[in-house]
Amino acid sequence: MTPPLSSYATEIYQRGLAGDAPPLPTDPSALEDAARAELDAGTFGYVAGGAGSGATLRANRAAFDRHAFVPRMLRDTTIRDWSTTVLGTAMPAPLLLAPVGMLGLLHPDGELAAARAAADVGVPIVLSTVASHTIEEVAEASGDGPRWYQLYWPTEDGVTVSLLERARAAGYTTLVVTLDTWTLGWRPADLDRGDRPMLRGAGAAIPFSDPAFRAGLAVAPEEDRAAAVARWASMFTGTALRWERLDLLRRHWPGPIVLKGVQHPADAARAVDAGMDGVIVSNHGGRQVDRAIGALDALPGIVEAVGERAAVLFDSGVRTGADAAVALALGADAVLLGRPYAYGLALAGEHGVRHVLRCVLAELDLTLALTGHASLAELRSDPDALVRRG
Ligand code: FNR
Repeated sequence: MTPPLSSYATEIYQRGLAGDAPPLPTDPSALEDAARAELDAGTFGYVAGGAGSGATLRANRAAFDRHAFVPRMLRDTTIRDWSTTVLGTAMPAPLLLAPVGMLGLLHPDGELAAARAAADVGVPIVLSTVASHTIEEVAEASGDGPRWYQLYWPTEDGVTVSLLERARAAGYTTLVVTLDTWTLGWRPADLDRGDRPMLRGAGAAIPFSDPAFRAGLAVAPEEDRAAAVARWASMFTGTALRWERLDLLRRHWPGPIVLKGVQHPADAARAVDAGMDGVIVSNHGGRQVDRAIGALDALPGIVEAVGERAAVLFDSGVRTGADAAVALALGADAVLLGRPYAYGLALAGEHGVRHVLRCVLAELDLTLALTGHASLAELRSDPDALVRRG
């Protein structure tokens, strides 16, 4: 029998008994503090920063604080199973690594380390278009592990189609299309340093290795990096992209397509009507629009609008397994983890990402077991699992 996900706690205590130093912090705030101490201020700001005054970042967390479990007793939850299949992808629990761009700024192994850790734990990685390694390199690091590809949708169709073809060929099964970042939000942490990493050429491994992108350059990126970066940056004016254009993606991607950044039930319904297979309820971790609603506050309405017809995934503000459990209890089919794994990567590469994933999975397991649930089906059929406060 496979050990429960919470066995990570047992491992940590056993190591403590053997006199080993504790691993990285399990408390997400302590993990963030450790990453702040490790990274230069600009890089830490790139990860931690939000849009404007940070009100959306705070709203994401405040939305979690308005929900609480009501634990139930004397139910048999000794044997639990959180495994699930989302859009054809099997996973040990409904958790994925969110697309986080430019991981090479945090650790030299960047997305390769994240992919190895995710594959080891069995959790899907969603690879960002603005990665520090190519689609093919990350696929190789991921091996037999599940992987999805996140598209920042370029305005040039030839490049879009080429990226999709590469991702398909490299074994990425679901396409995630991020809609909320067609242009960059107002981000004081980057502005105050006058530093936008993309304009320095960070996270350009995928376009620079792309034949359609390279075909539009007078000289190769290796010879004129600034011109290549300028061509890439100009593809994210975004305003040419419309609902009607989703058919381009549908024609060139045979697998499931999920739209990321959806926050209004009407947009979710429109996505499904347009033939999309799912949505990710997300506000990009509060990085795009200041004074937006907490993402968790958008979740129930979207589950109600499209939950029967499409997959509804969630991110923005998930720090712990208990947070993930709340989003699942509100009807999410799966949850994506963002900043915490970036901090784990910054602190200890592949080992750090694995640690963060195992912490979240272990706490998810314990939270649901201790609230009286042994499976996702039980959780979803329990209307009393959560109460809303305030
Ligand atoms: C992101 N996010 C993101 N999303 C995406 O679709 N493509 C990307 O390249 C990135 N890049 C990125 C970089 C950094 C440093 C962060 C923190 C986030 C958004 C990400 O997928 C997810 O929506 C948020 O991270 C969720 O918020 P929390 O839970 O991390 O606060």
